[in-house]
Amino acid sequence: MPELKSVTNTKLIFAPNEKFAQQANLTPEKYNELNQKAITNYAGFWGDLAQEHISWNKSFTKILDESNAPFYKWFEDGKLNVSYNCLDRHVLKNPNKTAIIFESDEGNVRKVTYKELLDLVCRFANGLKQLDVKKGDRVIIYMPHSIEAVVAMQACARIGAIHSVVFGGFSAKSLAERITDANAKYLITADAQTRGGRNLPLKASVDEALKILSLNNPIKKVIVNKRTKEECYFNEALDIWWHDLIKNQSDICEAEIVDSEHPLFILYTSGSTGTPKGVQHSSGGYLLGSILTMQWVFDIKPESDIFWCTADVGWITGHSYVCYGPLSVGATQVIFEGIPTYPDAARFWQMIDRHKVSIFYTAPTAIRALLKIDADLPKQFDLSSLRLLGTVGEPINPEAWMWYYEVIGKKRCPIVDTWWQTETGCHMLSPIPGVSKTKPGSCVSPIPGIMADIIDESGNTGKAGSDGYLVIKRPFPSQLRTIWNNPGRYVNSYFPKDIGGGKYYVAGDSAHLDNDGFFWILGRIDDVLNVSGHRLSTMEIESALALHPKVAEAAVVSKPHDIKGESIFAFVVCRGKARPVAADAENIAQELRQWIVKEIGPIAKPDEIRFGDNLPKTRSGKIMRRLLRSIARNEDITQDISTLENPVILEQLKSK
Ligand code: PRX
Repeated sequence: MPELKSVTNTKLIFAPNEKFAQQANLTPEKYNELNQKAITNYAGFWGDLAQEHISWNKSFTKILDESNAPFYKWFEDGKLNVSYNCLDRHVLKNPNKTAIIFESDEGNVRKVTYKELLDLVCRFANGLKQLDVKKGDRVIIYMPHSIEAVVAMQACARIGAIHSVVFGGFSAKSLAERITDANAKYLITADAQTRGGRNLPLKASVDEALKILSLNNPIKKVIVNKRTKEECYFNEALDIWWHDLIKNQSDICEAEIVDSEHPLFILYTSGSTGTPKGVQHSSGGYLLGSILTMQWVFDIKPESDIFWCTADVGWITGHSYVCYGPLSVGATQVIFEGIPTYPDAARFWQMIDRHKVSIFYTAPTAIRALLKIDADLPKQFDLSSLRLLGTVGEPINPEAWMWYYEVIGKKRCPIVDTWWQTETGCHMLSPIPGVSKTKPGSCVSPIPGIMADIIDESGNTGKAGSDGYLVIKRPFPSQLRTIWNNPGRYVNSYFPKDIGGGKYYVAGDSAHLDNDGFFWILGRIDDVLNVSGHRLSTMEIESALALHPKVAEAAVVSKPHDIKGESIFAFVVCRGKARPVAADAENIAQELRQWIVKEIGPIAKPDEIRFGDNLPKTRSGKIMRRLLRSIARNEDITQDISTLENPVILEQLKSK
């Protein structure tokens, strides 16, 4: 288990913001009441919330079915449509309310109201139906972060199709893998996405992915959204333009009523083995989690807030806090296709000022990067519209937290450091603004109803002042239902027998519980890396490297990085000839980086590559990664190396 890092300062503590508390959705009394109810009547707690917050087409009578644990069912006999909950019910009340303020990379702004968004979704959903997309069909969405991506996702939800969004930064090969695993028949893409002043082709990657799949390609139709002036290949037999598809469609499309447990989407994420896992989410339970966390953690006031979550729809954060959460509560949100440093590092602050953003949610990596470029730059902008700040995806170091708090939030805005995962669907640990005390770097405590705890090797839980595996002891509505096509992997990955006896959801993170009851995330307990808040598997990168003709063997470890949190360090043994040196080594390293870009995507590109004649191995041939970790970090090797077969290799690997 990783050790408690020195960056955590468990003593620095901030009282709840009193001014904020006066207006907050959750008062301390309400918060205590919720927690109390969750303890005394767990099913009733969730059942009442689901009745209150979701518009059901047919109400449920069963709340939680645990008979086939860990394949839990929530609100099983209830029927609903998620898109109806995100659109129609708000249109009925306030059709002209702005739903999305979109800003493009070049700074063009387009606003759509709830009524306009519903029309767009219905026309596109009718187009999907015309192409014969049916309830339960899998639809891959490989799109820029855009209004159209949200339309595509909502349209799938509207007709009961299961979307699987693939982040636009993933390579053709990664896309092909996901198409195969989901056995998707339809794919929605764009000619290109525009980020940082450049058009990055998407359709070309789709064409390449389909070429890789060749005769095993399950895709019957590719819908292409034209966004840029880039030329793109168009296959009349397979492709259809988005604008042609929606041209004559009606703007009325009755929402398909589905069971609460009907899969809403599959989202692939990295696990400890090489192949990505298709995390499958439900409709009712997931929707409930998104709504409640918008209310409790983001304290959303739909009538006055402008909400901005900077995550791409390709990640779970973009699913829950761009596509579903803000719309499900009828809020106005900003969507930005570009990057925080284009045209310069003022972009975020300028946009907060321009759009009068009141709730801002981003990743610590972005905060660290912008702080480093110019810590005073935000002072040139009017950030007085802000009232709440949030972070997600990785631990935030206290220095970045303090800058966020003082310079961006002017000490007025509470910070919610939210811990959660693709698998949990929505926030699990987070301060409740106006209620919780905060400590910079701690994600504080479980939100109401979430029975999170730490457990040690002997099975003891809740031991204050100690480290343990982070677990959630009771099923909760927004949790994943299974791994697509792989229920065995679901059970083994999340309910392992060796931690908690298979009874608890095991998150894969370790955490420290301090004496005041605050949680501190320490890091992953498996071979998952967190680079700039992006989750990557060391095994996946190793397998990709090993496919290169020049590579005999590779091992990947993480190294702490000032801005990205972690960076990727690869150790490589070349085939046949001796260890390359100097220019030769640099050339091969470049070649391998490009290879990884093609195999996985730019986010998985190793920062450093070190060559050796071999890797440190035990007598039974197991790579001793902890030694590689020490070498990558330039640390002295103090660990026991008595089982190491080839100690001389350590000296070689230490030198560039
Ligand atoms: O290690 C934790 C880290 O990100 C992992 C989940 O990654 P992913 O499924 O891609 O979802 C990211 C967005 C929710 C976790 O297992 N993580 C997430 N949030 C935090 C965090 N680590 C520390 N503090 C957080 N607030």
